Amino acid sequence: MPDRLMERVYDRSYWRCMRSKVEGRDFFGTFYYELFELSPEIQGHFVGSDMRRQRRMLRDSFTLIGEHYFAENATALLRLRRLHEERSIRPHLYVQWLEALLASVRKHDPEYDGETERAWRTVFEAGIDVMTQPSEVPE
Ligand code: HEM
Repeated sequence: MPDRLMERVYDRSYWRCMRSKVEGRDFFGTFYYELFELSPEIQGHFVGSDMRRQRRMLRDSFTLIGEHYFAENATALLRLRRLHEERSIRPHLYVQWLEALLASVRKHDPEYDGETERAWRTVFEAGIDVMTQPSEVPE
């Protein structure tokens, strides 16, 4: 899919997700619900976290992920990478993270199809690549 088309598919799906509620939850509520269902290991990392703040921060970070993919600006993502590295969040957890994300999009976007899934996957796999690279090359 050419980037322009992908951007449009992603963007429209994103806004459908932001506007919808499913079982009383907004998109980020569903996301953390799905994530913790899928991975008790990930849930363990959030013990004591302020989840209202976390949902807000995550929402903002989606702009960074989109910017990284569509505008090739990774600066802010690098800061986020460091924060996750400091918390010893291992790369395999990002696979589950992405699965929970796609499950949430499937629930919240009534127009979800293969093309929508490809667009989300492509955008977030690029962001996850940045997030999971070690920030310092060992000597
Ligand atoms: C591309 C994937 C991810 C994105 C975009 C993302 C985004 C964020 C953001 C925006 C924050 C808040 C940063 C701040 O406080 O300044 C955060 C914190 C955090 N993230 Fe992630 N995250 C991702 C993947 C993961 C994964 C796979 C885990 C697995 C356990 C994880 C666990 C955490 C934890 C434990 C915190 C700290 C929560 C707290 O402040 O108590 N994240 N993440």
